[in-house]
Amino acid sequence: MKTVAICFVCLGNICRSPTAEGVMRHLLAEARLADRVIVDSAGTGDWHIGEAPDERAQCAAKNRGYDLSIFRGRQITAADFESFDLIIAMDDKNVAALRQVCPPAQRDKIRLLMEFATDAAASDAGGAAQRASGFDSREVVDPYFGGGEGFEIVLDQCEAACRGLIAALRPQLTL
Ligand code: 4NP
Repeated sequence: MKTVAICFVCLGNICRSPTAEGVMRHLLAEARLADRVIVDSAGTGDWHIGEAPDERAQCAAKNRGYDLSIFRGRQITAADFESFDLIIAMDDKNVAALRQVCPPAQRDKIRLLMEFATDAAASDAGGAAQRASGFDSREVVDPYFGGGEGFEIVLDQCEAACRGLIAALRPQLTL
């Protein structure tokens, strides 16, 4: 049985990428695909290695039924580019940092999460809120130094993009 391995990546691995990991695991379980997709997350930075996700991210996620409490921060390594089929970054800065660690032959594995948010209705909530605050919705914007609203936008975006990602993976998972 074919499996796909995905690692979500942000800066600290305590806000955005654990949120994406929690949402993805939940949606895969709902779709009965949990045994077909390996999901992990990591940060490009090393400040939060071993830490649980940010309390604000955990709380916002819990309100929507996602449990982030078991995740612990870790930093991406060159070996991750061998282990994972897709390395999915939250923003352009993460992509640039990933390229510094990535073996040249594996560069095509690096993608942006919001590329997968193809369902206009589902992505609209996050997109509209981000456009209103002057951000480009092709990125999942760092909520760390902002208020609670940022964590809701991150969740909206992760839900929309993970739905699109599962749809994009389905053809290879049914092989
Ligand atoms: P994340 O958010 O990359 O979504 O986990 C951040 C977490 C920590 C910091 C920055 C962003 N920091 O500067 O410590």
